[in-house]
Amino acid sequence: MFSPNNNNYSRRRFLSQSGLGLLAFAGMPGLLNAMEGMQAMPKLPPRQANPNFKADVEIELFCKPASVPIFVGQQTRVLQYSARVLNGPKDAVTEIPGSYLGPLIHLQKGQKVRIHLHNGLSETTVTHWHGLHVPAEMDGHPLYAIDPGEKLVYEFEVLNRASMNIYHPHPHEITAKQVYHGLAGALFVHDEEEAALGLPSGAYEIPIVIQDRLFDDQNQLVYVRHMHERMMGFYGDRILVNGRAEFQIDVESRAYRLRILNGSTARIYKLAWDDGTHITVIGVDGGLLEKPETKPYMMLAPGERLDVWADFSGRAEGSQLVMRSLPFSGVLPSMGMMMHRGSLPVGSDYPVFTVKVTRKVSDSPKLPNTLSSFRRYQIADTANPNKPVPIGISEAHMAMLLNGRPYAYNDVQDFERIPVNSIQLMEIFHAHGGGHGQPAAGDGQAAGQQGGMGMGMGMGMGMGMGMGMGMGMGMGMGMGMGMGMGGMRHGGMGGGMGGGMGMGGGMMMSMAHPIHMHGQSFQIVSRSIANGMEHDYATVSDGFIDSGLKDTVLVMPGESVRLIKPFQDFKGLFMYHCHNLEHEDMGMMRDFLVV
Ligand code: C2O
Ligand code: CU
Ligand code: CU
Repeated sequence: MFSPNNNNYSRRRFLSQSGLGLLAFAGMPGLLNAMEGMQAMPKLPPRQANPNFKADVEIELFCKPASVPIFVGQQTRVLQYSARVLNGPKDAVTEIPGSYLGPLIHLQKGQKVRIHLHNGLSETTVTHWHGLHVPAEMDGHPLYAIDPGEKLVYEFEVLNRASMNIYHPHPHEITAKQVYHGLAGALFVHDEEEAALGLPSGAYEIPIVIQDRLFDDQNQLVYVRHMHERMMGFYGDRILVNGRAEFQIDVESRAYRLRILNGSTARIYKLAWDDGTHITVIGVDGGLLEKPETKPYMMLAPGERLDVWADFSGRAEGSQLVMRSLPFSGVLPSMGMMMHRGSLPVGSDYPVFTVKVTRKVSDSPKLPNTLSSFRRYQIADTANPNKPVPIGISEAHMAMLLNGRPYAYNDVQDFERIPVNSIQLMEIFHAHGGGHGQPAAGDGQAAGQQGGMGMGMGMGMGMGMGMGMGMGMGMGMGMGMGMGMGGMRHGGMGGGMGGGMGMGGGMMMSMAHPIHMHGQSFQIVSRSIANGMEHDYATVSDGFIDSGLKDTVLVMPGESVRLIKPFQDFKGLFMYHCHNLEHEDMGMMRDFLVV
């Protein structure tokens, strides 16, 4: 039977997508070895329902092409999730009328859920429940992707606390394209702790899914046209909220709960109210904070969520408040900024949505002082307090990797094997460029791979700058050589990663990556920023909340993040990857194997 995921196909595809010729590969022994070891992703028979699993709620989920009105004139062709409840509470699924987004799914903690996914696309797909702690076979790993016309059955119990999560496709190398064309939706978990707080609900709790999209003059979506749109991530020039342009909410003068999700493939936002009112945050990715926090602005990277308390009481009828994205710098390399010349640059100042007070009311709920409690892990609770699991970000002009390797099925490294029911200390860092450097892995092999990449990176840079941009060849070569040397020296040592690598070229390549881990939420222990990188960092650093439970963390250039993550209950493959979905599809993804 034909399998689209066979070894040669993946390899050829990687080569053509990355634009790398054999010449460049000759300088990348590490990468070449990784690719030799690459295994074909087997095509499994789609999972069937287990008659012994007694579902409390059973949902049919379809994904298929559709047309929706977004602008006046022609409708926009999209890919869309739709759903219906087969059994259980009818309000488990609610539509967002007129939106290409999938319906809102509402689950209760402790519920047993069965979901029948029908693939009505013309290519493979699989759905992942981003944020949910489910068995590996239920997690939407690309290994379980189904062909057009096939059906896949998921069965799991909701173990998560109350939280806003995301369901979206996760097929190998085509995740970004499917999400971009519309396949995504919000999935809420509710629990008793949340219910007891009496937070604004019903009409006073508003989902806000922020996405950027690019349209042609026929109102049709435009996606990646050049390699650099993958390298930097793809950026649209229209901001859509819940699938609508120029989104406006009409509110009463009272408190609301805004459930915000960045569903963009690459765009990072710096959200702030336009009148200077600070943002009151009551929750992040993994649910409610212990107590509310107030911030002048909040950074929100792809895959991240924010639970915001927005109190409009005291505001006059007819008054308006705009949620903007404010200026910031550093998330793209300066070369990337030049290539990304859209009319809505990342880090520029633009409106995201508008709130209009249309009715004056006298009553409003009060913000609770304390919201929730959860176990806070200490480093002493971890199995590896002195040897964090490394997540090394490597950037090259033509490849984005983690721990020096592109995604490959069945390519688990020693440090990617995690004992089940352990709690792990982990460290995300820039293996090149940032100049920070932590001998985190103590893994000579991984470091060797990264050294190999350093060489490839240098060559890639030189060619890209010379040909693609028509810029001074001297500059391109200079940068390439700087990085290449760094890589060689580093590889030669075969020791700790990244130490003292803060060379000029490396810094220029560095960009921000929202790193996401499947499975249970993690807790951020500390962040540190490399010398010389503080200037850009200061434009974003007041916009992080590290006191909550997270599954996606924005890692700025030159930044290292230490975190603690439990790997409880389930064995098997759990991905970690960049949630810049273009990066993910380029291979900036790896598996942990929980054993
Ligand atoms: Cu939201 Cu592995 O993804
Ligand atoms: Cu996920
Ligand atoms: Cu990335």
